[in-house]
Amino acid sequence: MSRAPRLAELKDDQLPRHLAIIMDGNGRWALHRGQRRTSGHQRGAEATEAIVEFVARELPIKYLTLFAFSAENWGRPPEEIDFLMQLLGDFLRRKLDRLLEQGVCLRLLGEIEQLPLSVQGELRRALELSQGQEGLQLNLALNYGGRQEILRAVRALLADQAQGHLERCELDEACFSRYLYTTGLPDPDLLIRTGGEQRLSNFLLWQIAYTELWITPTLWPDFTPEELLEALAAYRARERRYGTVKLARSR
Ligand code: FPP
Repeated sequence: MSRAPRLAELKDDQLPRHLAIIMDGNGRWALHRGQRRTSGHQRGAEATEAIVEFVARELPIKYLTLFAFSAENWGRPPEEIDFLMQLLGDFLRRKLDRLLEQGVCLRLLGEIEQLPLSVQGELRRALELSQGQEGLQLNLALNYGGRQEILRAVRALLADQAQGHLERCELDEACFSRYLYTTGLPDPDLLIRTGGEQRLSNFLLWQIAYTELWITPTLWPDFTPEELLEALAAYRARERRYGTVKLARSR
């Protein structure tokens, strides 16, 4: 793996404005050590805290979106779900002051109602207190699924149409995007997936149409700010063409 670049080499407008991360590999991290999966999640939460702190403090990235719990994760054993929910609640409770101090604005992508009441409470508090803060916007994808998000948008759109509210909006990409959880956010420029799996796992299916992908075998608990810098350096070297050609070089 290449040497991580120094931070100063990266601070420019070639960094992603919106970075999304699929934090995968907690379970394998634990199993490789003969430990329970929950200890992998515990270490994963520590890695999450370090990455959030680093991005908020050091990088001119405006939006960070973390896939913290998918709509499909409800199919895991109840003890694992409970543990993950507890970690999420703890994260919000313990880190809120620090996040507020750093100007972080929290946003939820996903359905809050099915989350345990204690997590809902922490989340609502964090969302309310951080609203309008102008630093990093931290989007937590929680109880989130990309297909579910698209269906929810279609239903809301049809309901608006039935009530005659759609007339002002021609049904184009911009109009449809306004019905997604991510309304108002730019699409992710870069999606990092740890744990080495080569799939999207129902994450931001609409939004990542032209997102650059960076997949690393590193398991999430081992993912560090240095490796994030490596991913950012790789992103900076990519040529983004959005399906077009680069005219100067085309033949
Ligand atoms: C995937 O690992 C990870 C998750 C399902 C949950 C992600 C949660 C965290 C990183 C910790 C809590 C988050 C916050 C925001 C505090 P996996 O269990 O699928 O790993 P595996 O593929 O090795 O089994």
